[in-house]
Amino acid sequence: MAQLLHLEGIDSVVLEDRSREYVEQRIRAGVLEQGTVDLLNEIGVGERLRREGLVHDGIELQFAGKRHRIDFPSLTGGRRITVYGQQEVVKDLITARLETSRPLHFEVSDVEVNGFESESPVVRFRREREDVELRCDFIAGCDGFHGVCRDSIPAGVLRAFEREYPFAWLGILAAAPPSNEELIYAYHEHGFALHSMRSPTITRLYLQVRPDEELAEWPDERIWNELELRLGLEGWTLNTGEVLEKGVTGMRSFVVEPMQCGRLFLAGDAAHIVPATGAKGLNLAVADVRLLASGIAAWYRNGDVSLLERYSSDALRRVWRAEHFSWFMTSMLHRLEGGDEFDVKLQLAQLAYVCSSEKAAASLAENYVGLEHV
Ligand code: PHB
Repeated sequence: MAQLLHLEGIDSVVLEDRSREYVEQRIRAGVLEQGTVDLLNEIGVGERLRREGLVHDGIELQFAGKRHRIDFPSLTGGRRITVYGQQEVVKDLITARLETSRPLHFEVSDVEVNGFESESPVVRFRREREDVELRCDFIAGCDGFHGVCRDSIPAGVLRAFEREYPFAWLGILAAAPPSNEELIYAYHEHGFALHSMRSPTITRLYLQVRPDEELAEWPDERIWNELELRLGLEGWTLNTGEVLEKGVTGMRSFVVEPMQCGRLFLAGDAAHIVPATGAKGLNLAVADVRLLASGIAAWYRNGDVSLLERYSSDALRRVWRAEHFSWFMTSMLHRLEGGDEFDVKLQLAQLAYVCSSEKAAASLAENYVGLEHV
């Protein structure tokens, strides 16, 4: 957001409550849509991404003991995805920000946003033991699901739509070369498993677990055995290695409408959450700030408010498309606790359909690589 504004000649102040080290190390998502890669290139932060990003032409869906490849370029008119860790994007953006010499403050606290229903919003925060007060034209609430911006909006303005799923993902990062060229999304009797990667020497793997699962119940050996079982096929071996990181992530869908209150605009996880199965979270955040920055730029250029007035409705079209796709992938691939054989048969029928019908495969593929116009 700050880089987009900078390129329009608009000043901004970026506030982050964590340290630079924390945000640069924290392991998060890894799949960038073509449109996200294009934007990072356009704003001049794509140099390392072009060198180190792993371009993928498809994914594999595994069920009933077989793998099926969904080929992206042939189904989407040449579109692809790139595997590149979110924290790498964060590092590249921080580097670019520091080069502009515009303000970026880490480890601020007590952030408050006020006055956004007037023409002069105010942001207050504490930095290096001093209280700071900032007056501005707009506030971009890019502060995540647990941030302060959404909760600062008066009751009654926003409507929330929500679904919690009765499972979570146990994720590991391992010092092991990927065991397959592509990502593998596996549907198994024991639950979903995902094989992903971060580099030619680092694998990222996930297992469906209960939402209240204790990490202590999962020593490394149990994780590897379960991954081997859910991802295993005759003649294929899972590469193992030192487990570098381990964590449990909940699965939820969440949207607030509208994504705005006066001069406070919400973007990314501050306004919406998707379950990770569709790999859409980071991509939606990027699509939001592209819209928001162009709206703000039009306002500074000639006082044109039309794009800002449409920001929420324009953004929400893509958000709901991604919510549906993420729910669809999640529902198709996870074992439902308390589900019955009927649920299993429906999931297998849907998996067989997307792997045998070119039209169904194309629908999955165009959503996965990211729709150009929503
Ligand atoms: C990841 O590599 O972290 C990843 C990949 C695909 C997903 C979710 C997470 O759907």
